[in-house]
Amino acid sequence: MSLHTGKSLSVSEALETRITARQFLDKAVAEDVLRGLLEKAMRSPSGGNLQPWKLHVMTGETLSKFKKEASEITLAGKLEEPTYPAYPSPLWEPQRSWRYKLGEDMYATLDIPRENKMGRIVWLAQNAKFFEAPVGIIITGDKRLDMPQHMDIGIFLQSLMLLAREAGLHTAPQGWWRNWTSVCHKYLNIPETEEVLVGMAIGYGDPDAPVNDLYADRASLDEVSRFYR
Ligand SMILES: Cc1cc2nc3c(=O)[nH]c(=O)nc-3n(C[C@H](O)[C@H](O)[C@H](O)COP(=O)(O)O)c2cc1C
Repeated sequence: MSLHTGKSLSVSEALETRITARQFLDKAVAEDVLRGLLEKAMRSPSGGNLQPWKLHVMTGETLSKFKKEASEITLAGKLEEPTYPAYPSPLWEPQRSWRYKLGEDMYATLDIPRENKMGRIVWLAQNAKFFEAPVGIIITGDKRLDMPQHMDIGIFLQSLMLLAREAGLHTAPQGWWRNWTSVCHKYLNIPETEEVLVGMAIGYGDPDAPVNDLYADRASLDEVSRFYR
């Protein structure tokens, strides 16, 4: 399925056309558009109205420097202690297979077979460049936050992603940054009391990039739900 680059006119359309874009055009997002998206996303609900998100929004020169250093660290293979692991380990079925399939489907669009381990690692490092997006956001939160507030932050992310579609933009949520926090602490004013929770790339998705043709599978409703009548 090819990338839908028009503006979404309904919530349903925004949901349907939102994908994780993994290649962006070299085209800036106007600051008023960006601020508008973030301001609207602040209407997201949160338990007790705690609004636990703290946003570090990078563009321009700062983003360029940040991406350069993050890529260097990543490609040098300097592993860091993640703030939170991305998944429970070991994963169980069916989630294990869903995750595996997502990876294989993505690498198929890129034509990087399983044997090409280095090719896959180099591609993964595109995360460190926010997939070339002109806007990179790191979301931090107080270290004392717990599961309910992390859910709130997820809701905020989804609001932002749908609003981006309404503006003709695409997004990539990135847990990646939980693994590479040193560069975040170096470039951003993150107090000692806060930690990196997630990142988000925002920009104009590249409709010609094969990786953006990936329209990830979903389970059927019946696989994940039970109706009680
Ligand atoms: C909180 C969160 C973190 C994610 N982190 C990453 C990431 O670091 N890198 C990446 O390529 N995709 C990341 N994804 C994208 C997921 O792989 C993607 O949402 C899932 O495969 C479904 O595909 P879709 O978003 O295209 O519908 C993340 C998604 C979420 C919701």
